[in-house]
Amino acid sequence: MGIRNIMFFFMLLTAVLVCGVDAELSLASYYGDHMVLQQAPKSAQIWGYADTVGDLVTVKIGPDGPSVQTKVIKDQTIGRNIWKVMLPPQKGSCPVNISISSSEGSLNIIDVLFGDVWICSGQSNMQFTLSMVFNFSAEIADAQRYPNIRLFTAAQKWSKKSEYDLLQVEQYWTRPNRDAVGHSDWSYFSAVCWLYGKYLYETLQRPIGLMVSSWGGTPIEAWSSQDVTNQCSKSRDVSNLDAAPQNTPTQLWKAMIHPLLNMTMYGVIWYQGESNAPSAGSYTCLFTNMIEDWRTKFHEASQGQTDRQFPFGFVQLAPNRNIRNITTGFPDIRWHQTADMGYVPNALMPNTFMSVAIDLPDYNSPYGSIHPRDKQDVAYRLYLGGLQVAYNIKAMGRYQGPQITAFFIDIGYHTLRLELDHSKQPIDVKSKDGFEVCCSRNNQTQCDGTDSTWMTAPIIKYDKTSVTIPSCNGQWTMGVRYLWQESPCVTPKMCPVYSVENDLPMAPYKLVGIIGL
Ligand SMILES: *[C@@H]1O[C@H](CO)[C@@H](O)[C@H](O)[C@H]1NC(C)=O
Ligand SMILES: *[C@@H]1O[C@H](CO)[C@@H](O)[C@H](O)[C@H]1NC(C)=O
Ligand SMILES: *[C@@H]1O[C@H](CO)[C@@H](O)[C@H](O)[C@H]1NC(C)=O
Ligand SMILES: *[C@@H]1O[C@H](CO)[C@@H](O)[C@H](O)[C@H]1NC(C)=O
Ligand SMILES: *[C@@H]1O[C@H](CO)[C@@H](O)[C@H](O)[C@H]1NC(C)=O
Repeated sequence: MGIRNIMFFFMLLTAVLVCGVDAELSLASYYGDHMVLQQAPKSAQIWGYADTVGDLVTVKIGPDGPSVQTKVIKDQTIGRNIWKVMLPPQKGSCPVNISISSSEGSLNIIDVLFGDVWICSGQSNMQFTLSMVFNFSAEIADAQRYPNIRLFTAAQKWSKKSEYDLLQVEQYWTRPNRDAVGHSDWSYFSAVCWLYGKYLYETLQRPIGLMVSSWGGTPIEAWSSQDVTNQCSKSRDVSNLDAAPQNTPTQLWKAMIHPLLNMTMYGVIWYQGESNAPSAGSYTCLFTNMIEDWRTKFHEASQGQTDRQFPFGFVQLAPNRNIRNITTGFPDIRWHQTADMGYVPNALMPNTFMSVAIDLPDYNSPYGSIHPRDKQDVAYRLYLGGLQVAYNIKAMGRYQGPQITAFFIDIGYHTLRLELDHSKQPIDVKSKDGFEVCCSRNNQTQCDGTDSTWMTAPIIKYDKTSVTIPSCNGQWTMGVRYLWQESPCVTPKMCPVYSVENDLPMAPYKLVGIIGL
């Protein structure tokens, strides 16, 4: 075989390989019939594959709607021939068909709505399906009343390299019906994602697209890009992580989030943290940086259409085991989920909102106590936060429980009064045990020495905006903390302090420092 024959053979091989990779006119995996695209004032970005570089692709909304044209390009990063368009901003809850045509053929995407697209991510409590919640049969039957909410679930895949499209789809875009929301345990559809979307829809009355990308048992490092893990790696020994590929840093980010960057979306909800509890130290760094990193990258890849500061809601960890002496792990993660402030949004976590779930134990959950079945309250609290933070709608009232705003120590009576709300919104006290004070023989500021101990401090009295607890009799009061256990409240919705309006629990809190003698 002469050199020319070898070259010819080689060229033929290359041609076959290229043809094998490049498809005819088609869409990226997460676009299709029944989808929701982000509505006006944003422009939805749609993209897909094609064969011939330079070929003209026309995307048309409805028979009489606007159309956009683009040319097929070879995308160097992806290594494939793609087309990509930015649709003119669209509004309205009437389904439309979108046609895409080129010299290679045409596609018709039917029953498309324009509304708000939310991504739901995290570990098993986000994956936890509607088929597993309390009252699941009524919830599943109710779903078909919401044809303007549309559902999508990404398959659980990991990758060592950044993917530009999902490797596999678990559930293609669909209207909600019995199978779509109640398919089978752990597959689809996510209960928290569904209920959040349903409550939002009830108020907003606009189409909602829900895209689940979650995987049980996974740590936050897996969902973070290397830009994040590099910043936080000093505080955590990643070699301690479970070696399973889905638990390896960056590998879910690469396969399950990175591919979605180019679409335009409204916001994210997140339920994760249990897997980081055994080694919680770096969670503040990881969580705050991951949120900012996702924001930057979704904004850039959507060419500015996804908000730079898109709303990010999350669930603060619920109780787990029916044990009251575990004061590390879950308490640490809950605190770090707020960047160690006890409330959100805050300076380190702008435009975030939180569902406090600490009062929703379910020790007899058939799925294990780590998976409480009351996702309705979890999602409802998330919805209250979403309305105000993500939509600036104040009509539903409070979205945060009471917060400690000041301390007053009464030396004579050995008591400590905690002011609980700057806004003077009344509080409700449902039980007494949940506060502790750190008592110390000297005024050292650490609360873990042999000379200092956390003592239970049951509520002695309260009024509309404060509670009074015992201080340290004859010793230094060196700190105060609240609900600092894995499972502090045995009876659901009976932790001590709530807001009267919307019945929202006060979140766990900790302060270590000299309060008084
Ligand atoms: C979209 O296409 C489907 C299938 O061809 C058709 O039944 C439907 O009427 C179309 N919808 C609109 C709004 O044109
Ligand atoms: C998606 O966005 C990324 C980052 O901007 C870019 O590298 C990639 O080429 C985009 N993909 C498509 C299909 O446009
Ligand atoms: C909590 O209490 C249980 C039962 O008394 C005991 O077995 C366990 O070791 C305690 N755990 C811690 C962390 O103190
Ligand atoms: C389940 O349904 C009952 C009866 O309607 C209701 O009282 C209860 O609050 C529901 N549970 C949840 C978690 O929604
Ligand atoms: C702490 O105690 C030391 C020694 O008793 C004393 O010198 C110091 O002033 C105290 N600090 C405060 C803030 O009270």
